[in-house]
Amino acid sequence: MRAYVLKHYGGPEGSQLMDVPAPTPRPRDILVEVHAAGLNPVDYKFRQGKLRAILRPKLPFVLGNELAGEVIALGSDVKRWRVGDRVFARVAKDRGGAFADQACVDEDHAALMPRNLDFTTAAAVPLAGLTALQALRDELGVKPGQKVFISGGAGGVGTFAIQIAKWLGAHVTTTASKRGEALVRSLGCDGVIDYATQDISKAEGRFDAGFDLIGGKTLEQMFEIMKPGTKIVSIAGVPEPQTAIKDLGGRRALAVVFWIISYGIRSRARRVGVSYRYLFMHASGTELAGLAELIEQGQLKVIIDKTCPFTKIPEALAYVESGHAKGKVVVTMR
Ligand SMILES: NC(=O)c1ccc[n+]([C@@H]2O[C@H](COP(=O)([O-])OP(=O)(O)OC[C@H]3O[C@@H](n4cnc5c(N)ncnc54)[C@H](OP(=O)(O)O)[C@@H]3O)[C@@H](O)[C@H]2O)c1
Repeated sequence: MRAYVLKHYGGPEGSQLMDVPAPTPRPRDILVEVHAAGLNPVDYKFRQGKLRAILRPKLPFVLGNELAGEVIALGSDVKRWRVGDRVFARVAKDRGGAFADQACVDEDHAALMPRNLDFTTAAAVPLAGLTALQALRDELGVKPGQKVFISGGAGGVGTFAIQIAKWLGAHVTTTASKRGEALVRSLGCDGVIDYATQDISKAEGRFDAGFDLIGGKTLEQMFEIMKPGTKIVSIAGVPEPQTAIKDLGGRRALAVVFWIISYGIRSRARRVGVSYRYLFMHASGTELAGLAELIEQGQLKVIIDKTCPFTKIPEALAYVESGHAKGKVVVTMR
């Protein structure tokens, strides 16, 4: 089968489209004929070797973190799925494999695709959709009427985050450039700050919850616009001890490293009475089924910037790496 394979960490030349043997399902896996796979910044960050401190699979390694397709075989212990089911999934962090004609997925990580979506659109949902849900509902506990600030609303995660925050009943302000403003407003955003020309401190009032998708200076400035006693969850800043304990399987040595590297940002948070959490999202079929329901009810739209054939995956990944996607980028296998 065709697969996009990482041979060595670094630039795009370290990965290539090649023929590899099809994967064999473990007892609790389903084997999926992949129709489409979504791209995410984690794909190029992983390729660059930036995640080596936390994920170290053996190379060569088939890249790709999310997919939509049809079940074509079942592991020996799988009871919930049938051959022919149309599923979508964020595959396990350490497993990859979505950029291929066939992929094995842990049965607990898959969900039935929303009935009103095709494979291409469904493949854009799992990673970004779950990240937004886990941050806003589970980590921040956003409640109706609260003021939520989301940095970077126009990209893959942001377009889900705005809609999920609105679904939770929040008043939402985001940052976007002129290129992204119409899109974020169309998703229901109440306030927009043009990050290229305006300072975040220009945001009206103070916020009850912050979701940071940008990191760096943006994250630092977000601390200044939060009410005391509130929380910022970042997916682009610096990992902190909870990331290792809650999201990465309780790795204590890693928690110490994260304690050290997050010292500055945690001190900044403490000074203004705000708590800081770096979330590393997790795969979950159950939570994905919840997103499928929202999509079927028309509460959640999937915004796709670009769709490319699988053979164009290097170009598609380069586009994601440019950092300007509006919504999601997807490659199609069939
Ligand atoms: N920890 C986790 O579990 C997790 C999960 C998912 C994603 N992430 C991370 O979260 C980040 C966002 O992911 P994504 O999929 O949303 O990325 P993305 O789709 O590549 O985001 C691109 C968008 O970001 C906008 N943007 C760029 N710089 C900006 C800035 N300074 N302020 C506001 N907007 C800006 C761009 O708008 P313009 O083109 O208009 O500039 C573009 O629309 C990435 O770093 C990713 O690795 C982490």
